[in-house]
Amino acid sequence: MDQFVITGGRPLQGVVQVSGAKNAALPILCASLLSSEPLHLLNVPHLRDVQTLLKILSGMGVQCDQTGNEVMLRAERIESPTASYDWVKTMRASILVLGPLLARCGYAKVSLPGGCAIGERPVDLHIKGLEAMGAVIEIVHGDMVARADRLNGAHIFMDTVTVTGTENLMMAAVLAEGTTILENAAREPEVVDLARCLRAMGAQISGDGTDLITIQGVSVLRGAKHTIMADRIEAGTLLVAGAATRGDITLQGIDAGVLESVLDKLMEANARIDLAPQQIRLTMLGENHGVSLRTSPYPAFPTDMQAQFMAMNAVARGTTVVTETIFENRFMHVQELRRMGANIEVEGNVAIIRGVSRLEGATVMATDLRASAGLVIAGLIAEGETVVDRIYHLDRGYEQMEVKLAALGANVFRRSRKGDHGTV
Ligand code: UD1
Repeated sequence: MDQFVITGGRPLQGVVQVSGAKNAALPILCASLLSSEPLHLLNVPHLRDVQTLLKILSGMGVQCDQTGNEVMLRAERIESPTASYDWVKTMRASILVLGPLLARCGYAKVSLPGGCAIGERPVDLHIKGLEAMGAVIEIVHGDMVARADRLNGAHIFMDTVTVTGTENLMMAAVLAEGTTILENAAREPEVVDLARCLRAMGAQISGDGTDLITIQGVSVLRGAKHTIMADRIEAGTLLVAGAATRGDITLQGIDAGVLESVLDKLMEANARIDLAPQQIRLTMLGENHGVSLRTSPYPAFPTDMQAQFMAMNAVARGTTVVTETIFENRFMHVQELRRMGANIEVEGNVAIIRGVSRLEGATVMATDLRASAGLVIAGLIAEGETVVDRIYHLDRGYEQMEVKLAALGANVFRRSRKGDHGTV
């Protein structure tokens, strides 16, 4: 099992390119199921989650050819419209095949995801929405078995904002008969990127980026070429790493418009932000001020950036309060940060962080994707050596994180059973 070995204390400096977004790539790869013509994707990140999804799609009969960051998908015929528990348990986002399979094949069997490290994460809104469109869904031996001769457009109100729920219903609706309206839809930029790709395939969608999305069903979709948007969470993570180490870093290939709430908090923490087209420069101006924050759906502060800010706050001046409103068990990094000397108290979904003057290196365990990113940032600030174990969580969603950090001057390398590789 791979580990990151980090010797903290170096301010990050330099220029780095942001990769394609995991959370946009996953639904867009699933969109390939909606057409018998090829979908050509550019800027697809090399991530464990992407590889998992490509295996699921291949298992269904989709021809997947990957060259560098390009993927060509051909779903001429779908032989087996199923995603088994073995896949879904490793990646909940596999549920994104449900909507497109049902729309294209009239049948789908997708394992019901169980609980996961960061909380219960139900899928009731995916099911409710598809049922409103005429699908009949039964739970049989832990699988969702969904049937519909042809889905019908429907007016669907989602009582919680759900990102993959919105994406699943949007993909189901593009081939449905008539008009679908998704109310209280997710406004995340990844939903907009999916809509852009679907429109290139001939779908009729409007209102994406707002909480009211209208989809006029069409009978067939064509092939298309689409470039996956940059990963705002990877970008945000690198910026926090830059701020926490009092560095000066520049990110390229990212539109600052998708990071407003994060940039706002970084400025509050005492960073200067300079923007140019597709470029963000962060310069820490001095002492880290720490920031209180509350996670909420886009455009508010993302839950996927909470652990990283918590690590930075651990060594900030004064006391800060972090409130998590999206997932009920997303403070798994707190125990590990405490082992490095952080002073953090948790009461329900609120963490109170009393800044300490320094963290000490320790061996810590990654528990989920974004918690791992928080621990890596803590390692970059800490005195001495930090070993972040179970880095496979990080590999699910960050492309070559250790290489990018090393390029910015961090002392970090990957240690694997097969031997050490990476950069010091
Ligand atoms: C997506 C992102 C994930 C991010 C999260 C919140 C992907 C692949 N993953 O996850 O990185 O952390 O959005 O921004 O895009 N809920 C229900 N019923 C449902 C569905 C969701 O109650 O049917 C609840 C969840 O328990 C949670 C909230 O809605 O409390 C938001 O979850 P959701 O937006 O669905 O998260 P994901 O789409 O799984």
